[in-house]
Amino acid sequence: MTRRRIPRWSELRPYLRSGPVRLSPVERRLAAAATVWDLRTVARRHVPRAVFDYVDGAAETEISLRRSRDAYARVEFIPSVLRDVSAVDLSTTILGRPASMPLVFAPTGFTRLMHQEGEPSVARVAGRMGIPYALSTLGTTSPEDLAAAAPQTDRWFQLYLWNDRDAGLELVRRARAAGFTALVLTADTPVAGARLRDVHNGFTIPPTLSVRTLIDIGLHPGWWFDKLTTEPLRFAVFSETGGTVADLINRVFDPTITVADLAWLRDAWDGPLVIKGIQTVEDARAVVDAGADAIVVSNHGGRQLDRSSTPLEQLQPVVAAVGDRAEVYIDGGVLSGADVIAAVAMGARAVLVGRAYLYGLMAGGERGVARAGELLRTEAVRTMQLLGVQEVGDLDNSRVRLRPPEA
Ligand SMILES: Cc1cc2nc3c(=O)[nH]c(=O)nc-3n(C[C@H](O)[C@H](O)[C@H](O)COP(=O)(O)O)c2cc1C
Repeated sequence: MTRRRIPRWSELRPYLRSGPVRLSPVERRLAAAATVWDLRTVARRHVPRAVFDYVDGAAETEISLRRSRDAYARVEFIPSVLRDVSAVDLSTTILGRPASMPLVFAPTGFTRLMHQEGEPSVARVAGRMGIPYALSTLGTTSPEDLAAAAPQTDRWFQLYLWNDRDAGLELVRRARAAGFTALVLTADTPVAGARLRDVHNGFTIPPTLSVRTLIDIGLHPGWWFDKLTTEPLRFAVFSETGGTVADLINRVFDPTITVADLAWLRDAWDGPLVIKGIQTVEDARAVVDAGADAIVVSNHGGRQLDRSSTPLEQLQPVVAAVGDRAEVYIDGGVLSGADVIAAVAMGARAVLVGRAYLYGLMAGGERGVARAGELLRTEAVRTMQLLGVQEVGDLDNSRVRLRPPEA
């Protein structure tokens, strides 16, 4: 029979939690998020459904996005044991500039919709982390305001070209004057993808008032209070507004752009030129021949052509074709630091993330973005340690393989 006794206080004390006391509910929920996916769960509760879906969703049946994530699930790491991994160094260079890890915060349009702290907060976190941040043409902060808000951050400017080429050139000039270090031309958006969640939600820019909106105000009062008591939401460099994002893109973007147009862009911008949205070896070669310094193997997070190729599966052939002449980055479906390490081991110089930091932003503004960054970094360090690799430069394809899709 078990003999029982009354415990002494000294025996109970170790069971009492002695972590930091967090009074702010935002900090409590951010600290409780153990993964970026947890931040997504918090985000879903805190913003209106149409906003969450605008971020979380992809084009048509969302197969591209699912396949991108599944590809990371098929990664198999090949670790070496009995290595000294007490100190792991994630630092690298991106476009010749030092970066604390092979990560870039991707351009995302209309970021102040997700949280009123918007692009400046994302750029400040990138600066504190020591990684680049790319401001979108469809941003809610101008290049000048972003430069003032995050002067220390390595700032890239993402360009969409629209019918008025002179307006595009003017933006390039403004980005240069505001100290942006790289120009990213997004090449996969001649027309808008069909984001069906936005269609079903009746999502417009700016959001319109309907019965559904009024109900939503009751469900997400904090988000609406912020929206209604701060500057109205609008594009910063772009006077067009109204209708869905797809309406806007189709009305204004130029579907006639070809590789030949890269020549004048190359002339207009004397810094590094990155072409985002490359999916084939042929296109990678063509844009590098036309003067690109880097490319992003990307299907726009599955938001453009549904059932397009899966970036992680395209990475190695593209690196083999142009990796000696240009830096090759990748994005789409990256939600953990282990994903980042896998992509780098497969040949990417750096990895862009969009939703990962947007989930953080929706969950808790700048602090949420910082939490997302902290999780990605911690996971990347741990993955390197468990792989037995000390430096990013030592990651190569002997460390990783892609398992075949399960039947
Ligand atoms: C809400 C949202 C808005 C985006 N807006 C832009 C944009 O304005 N310009 C652009 O080049 N890419 C844009 N993207 C694509 C991202 O730059 C990036 O390619 C994509 O998010 C990567 O996939 P991930 O979200 O799974 O990390 C956007 C993505 C999201 C989720």
